[in-house]
Amino acid sequence: MTAFVPGLEGVPAVESRICTIDVENRRIIIRGESLEKLALERRYEEVAFLLIHEHLPDADEMKEFTKSLSTERVIPSAVITGLTCMPAGIHPMDLLRTGVSGLSAYDPEIDDVSVEANKRKAVRLLAKTGLLVGNLDNISVRKTFQLADDKLSHAENILTLIKNGKTQPWMSKPFETLFILYVEHELAASTFAARVVASTLADMYGAVVAGLAALKGPLHGGANEKATEIFEFDVSGAEEYVRDKLGRKERIMGFGHRVYRRGIDPRAEIAKQLLEEACGKVGDDRLYRVADHVERLMEREKNLYPNLDFYAAALYKLMGIPPKFYTPIFAASRVAGWAAHVIEQQAENRLFRPRAIYKGPL
Ligand SMILES: CC(C)(COP(=O)(O)OP(=O)(O)OC[C@H]1O[C@@H](n2cnc3c(N)ncnc32)[C@H](O)[C@@H]1OP(=O)(O)O)[C@@H](O)C(=O)NCCC(=O)NCCS
Repeated sequence: MTAFVPGLEGVPAVESRICTIDVENRRIIIRGESLEKLALERRYEEVAFLLIHEHLPDADEMKEFTKSLSTERVIPSAVITGLTCMPAGIHPMDLLRTGVSGLSAYDPEIDDVSVEANKRKAVRLLAKTGLLVGNLDNISVRKTFQLADDKLSHAENILTLIKNGKTQPWMSKPFETLFILYVEHELAASTFAARVVASTLADMYGAVVAGLAALKGPLHGGANEKATEIFEFDVSGAEEYVRDKLGRKERIMGFGHRVYRRGIDPRAEIAKQLLEEACGKVGDDRLYRVADHVERLMEREKNLYPNLDFYAAALYKLMGIPPKFYTPIFAASRVAGWAAHVIEQQAENRLFRPRAIYKGPL
């Protein structure tokens, strides 16, 4: 057996053509394209297409892909009814995970793991997960369900449904940019979980459910929901909050990253810029001042830097999105990344079956 590395830190577990993180040059590359450029210049649908089909769409492909997403934006009524019966206090990530699991019963190609069938399932999962995320509160609190508006983009639909129609024009662009920034990030814990499931040749729904289960944890996607706590305070209150937590050896959510050890997550840098611009548009810079102060404080005190979840939390708060939806929004975006990894894994499959170093009695 090779040497044990806790948490598989730095250990390559797959060869992939999907995404790489160039830490030195602070760049994230998705299928040869810069994530920063994609986030600032493209629509989410184009990036999802890139992940699934390995190239950016031309105009006809984009039209066809958008049409397929619209057609697939339906949820079987039995799934909605089942979710409506869940307890009202259920965490939206648990509701979403259950919903995606339920959807698997209605996919006629569930057990076909060929590349072509997997690509079609990816579109269904993308469309349906987005619609479910937009309707999480409708289902569990209002006991209703709203359809998407085909005139809106995928991201705008999710924002509009979550905000129950109460959006403002300035929100669309930063929401979409953040949504793209969340789409794919190499072998994050949830992606690895999805690939492990896919490597048994189980279906894509199961792999996505595994991804959702892993994403909920506060050390991964769940961090954006927890990171929002700090934005209840003004600058001095936030400093007190941080010092108090660090004094108790607790973690500040939205800081630190397994891959970015020596500087800010490049996605967070873009989100910080978005926050500054958005604060300017609403005429209130409190959230930006708090975030910037805490960023400097954490660098001084702990040599730790913000990750995307920190600045995403501030932006979602500015948009008036309830914190319980932050991680589901992340999930709705990351489905495209998970699907790309499932397709790649099953196209060139080798079962994941590592070994354990036994420390128990013999
Ligand atoms: C992301 C994360 C899990 C990476 O963890 P990791 O690579 O395993 O890093 P480690 O746990 O080895 O941390 C190294 C040190 O930094 C500290 N640290 C790491 N993140 C910290 C944080 N957010 N707040 C305070 N201290 C932190 C650890 O306590 C540890 O200190 P120690 O050596 O005194 O024990 C970790 O930084 C974290 O928990 N961050 C908060 C959750 C978060 O934002 N997750 C989203 C990631 S995109």
